Amino acid sequence: MPDENDLFEIQRTTRAMRRLKPDPVPDELVQKILRAGMNAASGGNSQRWRFLVIKDQSIKEKVQAYYKRAFDEVVSPRYLSSDPPPGSSPGRYRRQHSAVEYLTDHYHEAPIWIVACQDDGQSTPSRSSGASIYPAVQNMLLAARALGLGATLTTRHLNFEAEVEAIFGLPQGIHSYAILPIGYPLGNFGPVRRGDMADFVYLDTWNNQYPGLE
Ligand SMILES: Cc1cc2nc3c(=O)[nH]c(=O)nc-3n(C[C@H](O)[C@H](O)[C@H](O)COP(=O)(O)O)c2cc1C
Repeated sequence: MPDENDLFEIQRTTRAMRRLKPDPVPDELVQKILRAGMNAASGGNSQRWRFLVIKDQSIKEKVQAYYKRAFDEVVSPRYLSSDPPPGSSPGRYRRQHSAVEYLTDHYHEAPIWIVACQDDGQSTPSRSSGASIYPAVQNMLLAARALGLGATLTTRHLNFEAEVEAIFGLPQGIHSYAILPIGYPLGNFGPVRRGDMADFVYLDTWNNQYPGLE
């Protein structure tokens, strides 16, 4: 377990943990994760978030069928035809693809899912609405990591948004923004891989190098 108080170490090692054990997660920990989510900010502190915790196997299986279909039709072809992202390599990217496939096949076996939803009323989900729910999602990922639990931010179900939201029984105006499958990890936590800061950070004007970046 990491030092729960070392935020920077937790951030550095909060990566997508796609291989999970089916062992149950104590409800006390689930509640800690949910509380961490609700500690996040939302626009005007409106807290239009809603969190649907899924434990029911048959619900997870129905959603997994769509998640798998989106992998076969959209995600896998994209992996095969795209270059590795910054900070990665062809070998690492291939391993990422196989981890993504593993999670696809075992999605429904994660003991707990947290579905991050939001009450959007009449509005269409947008950057603004996302800005009020993804801070909570990131807080939950960090909390899971701090508790020694693996999780992944997934949004692929949105390829079949209407079908999946019907399975979840979401009422009119409530939208799902992410599904977090959570469980004890099979493998080890490790550092995230990212590109060089100099390729992403500018000073004052676009493309003007920020000096002294490490
Ligand atoms: C908006 C968003 C959507 C994502 N959707 C999925 C997904 O549906 N399935 C999946 O396996 N990973 C998904 N991920 C996880 C990313 O692929 C992963 O975080 C990224 O490759 C970086 O890897 P790392 O977290 O291990 O550092 C998503 C991440 C984000 C931010």
